[in-house]
Amino acid sequence: MNEKMKHRLCLILLAVAALAPAGCSPSSSEEPPLQGAALGGAFTLTDQNGRTFRDSDLAGRYRLIYFGYSSCPDVCPTDLAVIGQGLAQYEKAAPQRAAKVQPIFISVDPERDTPAILKDYVSAFHPRLIGLTGTPEQIRNVAKEYGIYYAKQDSEGASSYLMDHSRQTMLFGPKGEPIALVAADEGAKAVTEALDKWVK
Ligand code: NI
Repeated sequence: MNEKMKHRLCLILLAVAALAPAGCSPSSSEEPPLQGAALGGAFTLTDQNGRTFRDSDLAGRYRLIYFGYSSCPDVCPTDLAVIGQGLAQYEKAAPQRAAKVQPIFISVDPERDTPAILKDYVSAFHPRLIGLTGTPEQIRNVAKEYGIYYAKQDSEGASSYLMDHSRQTMLFGPKGEPIALVAADEGAKAVTEALDKWVK
């Protein structure tokens, strides 16, 4: 996909997210909003234990994916807490289906997010949350495949820096097929409801 098309897809995804009515009633016959979207794909990264981790390791599992970075002061920890709480509530309500859901955090800041740092970080949000990092090139590739924009903020003279990045929680199916954006910004209940709606 070229850059222009990728950009257009991002705009469509944003529009879908904006239009999705809050609290709409679940309907199992409904088509997944992202069905057929050119989003997602193969990746090779490194997990929080320093082991190579591939998308194929997730075969048969639903993937709840969020991109961010561990030094993020506000948005990432807020969203990850909501994702963790939403999944935990779903685990209580529907343990068998919830066990099929793998929450994943992918770093857009591979310079600072080493496996050791990610290990500490992800354990704060959900016991099963996997943290993935990689080489700058691996991260560039996976972010592109998953429609995620990120860039280092200009912070001249500062010893630390912030990252700009897309704020998107995405649900993929057992074959890696895109299903829906999850409105984590609306709270844990929205996450639980989205999982209940799409995980079979
Ligand atoms: Ni963030």
